[in-house]
Amino acid sequence: MNLNLAVISGDGIGPEVVREARKVLDRIAEKYGHEIHYTDLLMGGASIDVHGVPLTDETIEIAKSSDAVLMGSIGGNAATSPWYKLPADRRPEAGLLKLRKSLGLFANLRPAILYKELQDACPLRKDISDKGFDLMIMRELTGGLYFGARETKEVDGVMTAIDTLTYNENEIRRIARRAFDIAGKRRKKVCSVDKANVLDSSRLWRKVVEEVAKEYPDVELTHMLVDNCAMQLVKDPAQFDVILTENMFGDILSDEASMVTGSIGMLASASLNDSKFGLYEPSGGSAPDIAGQNIANPIATILSAAMMLRYSFDLDKEADAIEQAVSQVLAEGYRTGDIMSEGCKKVGTTEMGDLIAER
Ligand code: NAI
Ligand code: MG
Repeated sequence: MNLNLAVISGDGIGPEVVREARKVLDRIAEKYGHEIHYTDLLMGGASIDVHGVPLTDETIEIAKSSDAVLMGSIGGNAATSPWYKLPADRRPEAGLLKLRKSLGLFANLRPAILYKELQDACPLRKDISDKGFDLMIMRELTGGLYFGARETKEVDGVMTAIDTLTYNENEIRRIARRAFDIAGKRRKKVCSVDKANVLDSSRLWRKVVEEVAKEYPDVELTHMLVDNCAMQLVKDPAQFDVILTENMFGDILSDEASMVTGSIGMLASASLNDSKFGLYEPSGGSAPDIAGQNIANPIATILSAAMMLRYSFDLDKEADAIEQAVSQVLAEGYRTGDIMSEGCKKVGTTEMGDLIAER
């Protein structure tokens, strides 16, 4: 297969972790007989330094014409970096928001996996962490409260702020289909999370999700209220396979789920559009505090590359190979600093990439 990838290394640890993901992809290409062509693109601070803006139209066009985008992360230290003296719409993060929007990426997938090798690092009770868990949060990314009309004004002499939460049935249907498709490739369970006891948008959400469920008779659907879900994620995360939810609930729940695994450096993510196209990036940021020291954990980015093979190219065997290599290296006791525990062998970013590529 020919894979035409746009690569945005970005800022901070971005270039370091993307280099390792490419190393692993190159090894996969060699072993399974694929051709990977990479086009490097600038975004965020790296683009501001060269072009004065965090994202150029040319970069958007090249990203659009690629088969998928592999990204590190963007941004710097807001207190010290000159990028943050610019107006908000010219700062590094504005580039990422604009790119997501231009590419129509409405489905955000964030797996939260507790590897049995890393149970010691898990902040949950031992009886829970011993079971391990492997869940996927499917968050709607382009609707809801973050995109509705907002305004602050005086009403009867009192300052009042208004945010609007809007969803239409088409927006709900397309994200629901994505969740059921992905559950079909996993343990065939979707838990749709809403606040249908209060919100109209949630009642429509529930109705449309139930309609979509009829198209997928082999996938089980349950519903859960968002406040309960926040508790259940801490109490018994192993009960979940795919959690389907709207934008703001998904933002909060996905950060919660990632922290119960104990290590941001391990967590991949993907944002998909209507077709097979996607943007794949680690869940964490550019970690300016550890950039340039060869200590960042490249596993989140390497696992994001595995998601890319699975969801944009249907290369399940190749994705499995990467995930198994990661588990094997962890089982052999190799750790970067962020996941280090007693008796393990500490390695740097490049060594971790080498080990995974070899396996
Ligand atoms: P962060 O995720 O970059 O860092 C939080 C903590 O986690 C830091 O202590 C960092 O060293 C650690 N960490 C993160 N990734 C790691 C890895 N792979 N290995 C080991 N340790 C890791 O979040 P923070 O500090 O809030 O943001 C830093 C910058 O990143 C900001 O400019 C922010 O806007 C940007 N950011 C960018 C994102 C993106 O590109 N999608 C997402 C989140 C933040
Ligand atoms: Mg968040």
